[in-house]
Amino acid sequence: MDAQEKLKKLTSKLKKLYEKNSKMLLFHGWHHIQFVRKKALEFANSINADLFLVESAALTHDLNYIVGPNSEPQEGQALRREYLTDAGYSPSDMDTIDKIVLESHTRTRGEVISEEGKALSDADTLFKSLPVTPILFASKFIAQNKIDIYRLAQKVTSEQNPLIEKGIYFYTSLAKERYLKWAKGNLQLWNNVQEALQDDDVKEMLSNAAKSGVI
Ligand SMILES: [Fe+2]
Repeated sequence: MDAQEKLKKLTSKLKKLYEKNSKMLLFHGWHHIQFVRKKALEFANSINADLFLVESAALTHDLNYIVGPNSEPQEGQALRREYLTDAGYSPSDMDTIDKIVLESHTRTRGEVISEEGKALSDADTLFKSLPVTPILFASKFIAQNKIDIYRLAQKVTSEQNPLIEKGIYFYTSLAKERYLKWAKGNLQLWNNVQEALQDDDVKEMLSNAAKSGVI
């Protein structure tokens, strides 16, 4: 089976899996996977990363959210291997894809990762920093992962501020040139949210909204 056939088979099987779980995957659903796949290929092209590996990693990078809410990429490893095996991937390709997925994880990624990891990371991080994401999808993230705004604001600011400081919010020049402005605006918003959540009157208002079932 050639690379395109493997990708076609993998995509078709994953699409069915995502459709079956769409009610649960409010943030990390097929819309997210499709976007990350497309942008990861664009970033991969700009740095000559391996397109087959990047596309395969993009398609399977969030399978942990089907295993369970608020989970880590390692928890999706078995399911990822199951789908890759089924689509005809070799054990060595699977090892590389796993490595790309793990090294591009926002919470733990560092300065030195592979070119394929950079392409995936930039696409996945871009989804987080799109101007529409805090408006349309932040509340979906809270619902999908059964957390609250306090926990999400803490997560976003503690994970993403250091990435800006280290200069690795995005890795590729293409993502930096086009999207760093959005990323900084988005992070400023989350820093403001974090600050607002320390305010007693805001806390009381949110607590009242929760009691009356509005949020
Ligand atoms: Fe993702």
